[in-house]
Amino acid sequence: MAATTFAWWQIGVIYQIYPRSFKDSNGDGVGDLQGIIDGLDYLNDGTPDSLGIDAIWISPIYPSPMADFGYDVANYTDVDPLFGDLATFDRLLAEAHRRGIRVILDFVPNHTSDEHPWFVESRSSRNNPKRDWYIWKDPAPDGGLPNNWASMFGGRAWAWDERTEQYYLHLFHRKQPDLNWRNPAVKAAMLDVLHFWLERGVDGFRVDVIGFMIKDAQFRDNPVLHGVTAHHPNDLWGLQDHVYDIDQPEVHDIIREFRSLLDSYGDRVLIGEIWAQPRSRWARYYGTSLDELHLPFNFDLLHKPWDARAVRASVDELEAALPAGAWPNYVLGSHDISRLATRYGEQAVRVAAMLLLTLRGTPTLYMGDEIGMTDGLIPPERIRDPQGLNISADRSRDPCRTPLQWSGSPYAGFATVEPWLPVAEDFQARNIEIQRGDEQSVLSLYRRLLRLRRASPALTRGRYSPVNDEPPNCFLFLREDEQERYLVALNFGGESCEAKLHDAVGQIVLSTELDRTEGPPVSAFTLRPHEGIVMKLLMKSL
Ligand code: GLC
Repeated sequence: MAATTFAWWQIGVIYQIYPRSFKDSNGDGVGDLQGIIDGLDYLNDGTPDSLGIDAIWISPIYPSPMADFGYDVANYTDVDPLFGDLATFDRLLAEAHRRGIRVILDFVPNHTSDEHPWFVESRSSRNNPKRDWYIWKDPAPDGGLPNNWASMFGGRAWAWDERTEQYYLHLFHRKQPDLNWRNPAVKAAMLDVLHFWLERGVDGFRVDVIGFMIKDAQFRDNPVLHGVTAHHPNDLWGLQDHVYDIDQPEVHDIIREFRSLLDSYGDRVLIGEIWAQPRSRWARYYGTSLDELHLPFNFDLLHKPWDARAVRASVDELEAALPAGAWPNYVLGSHDISRLATRYGEQAVRVAAMLLLTLRGTPTLYMGDEIGMTDGLIPPERIRDPQGLNISADRSRDPCRTPLQWSGSPYAGFATVEPWLPVAEDFQARNIEIQRGDEQSVLSLYRRLLRLRRASPALTRGRYSPVNDEPPNCFLFLREDEQERYLVALNFGGESCEAKLHDAVGQIVLSTELDRTEGPPVSAFTLRPHEGIVMKLLMKSL
């Protein structure tokens, strides 16, 4: 049988850059493209001193009024001056490629900014040729809103336009009107956008809320969930069953078109932000003939407690739900959710790193998680996130977006002036500079895990199978191919535990406790509290 070949996005590790908070090169307190260029050696300079990731996904860099910090795009084919310009982007691409780092852009097709020329035209009059590029509706017969849909950022999803006396739809901020993807002209214009960046040489796209693009053709009310109350009066999204506003069957036709465009350019990746539940609906985004997304982001672990049973169940369910030939992926952090060190607790950070980098599937690592950054404390007057401002402070995503902590210098070496969001308080103790020089640091653990993964075909491509008689609160699984067999043993709890190997002896190749050195092969071992180990299994039977 011919060996299966794996694409770079299957073997590689993706690192998410939130550009406003990565590195500021021009002294305005906001990160920028030159800052990313300056940080590339840290990410991968080909030596063991660098982190060793394979691709970067950069959150939006396009011109934007920044109502949602770039997810409100005013021009899809340029760079916001805050971040740089197209020439700097081309340099970034070349510098990244020179280091073997692929570049994935964020593509935001569901909505534009209300300041995008398309919307400016669309709202200018009811008979403007671009009127139908967005979703305009008359009031309901009783004079109320066109339907009961809610905005993710609080309140209803309809905004009234005084001049033309109709409502437009916005599933996010009112400054983010939803495009009408049933209009072929919208699709053609957006495919041109993809062309533009593919021609420039980008390696793929992470597509923002891709499942939201098409809405019910009849705009029916969503059913209201019974027995659910809003935690915050303005948070109406969680009160509905989203039957009609998202995940409509017709969206798959559009995704297939995106995919065939990417395929015509060869080795590019299409990743989608998919929140769909249940798993079967999520899995549909691979396409019935694997002709849609290469990777529908798998966010399941973001909602799981730090509990070995829950995590294992999530992994096993995912493996079972994958269509034949589909490739899994895992996400433990992003710019939209409390950081993993805060969600799971700091004691979980090392085991979480091992979990993310040893499971079967493409890992996406959120910037700063590699040094164990926690959520920053944002004083109420500095909240910037529209979700935090419109719903409530505890829904703000600012805490996971604080500047990357490069060093103990003022502003954590991120900027030379006060940054757009405050630097987290612990930056003097927790930063890249300190951790680079410390063999025991979380960063050193990430570097070793990335190196081990890269060196081992079994860990990057091999099969996954869970081990059945796990000690309490431990998750044990095998990764193996024809040549190698690894056991990954993760202790989620604060008690040490014993594990036995039944048909093999094993040698520890890496522990999250970096002082634990490789010993002779063993048939039983102890896992310390909150310890994870990767063990190479040496022979089938004793
Ligand atoms: C996605 C992005 C999020 C943004 C929203 C609207 O969920 O990840 O940051 O606010 O889409 O574009």
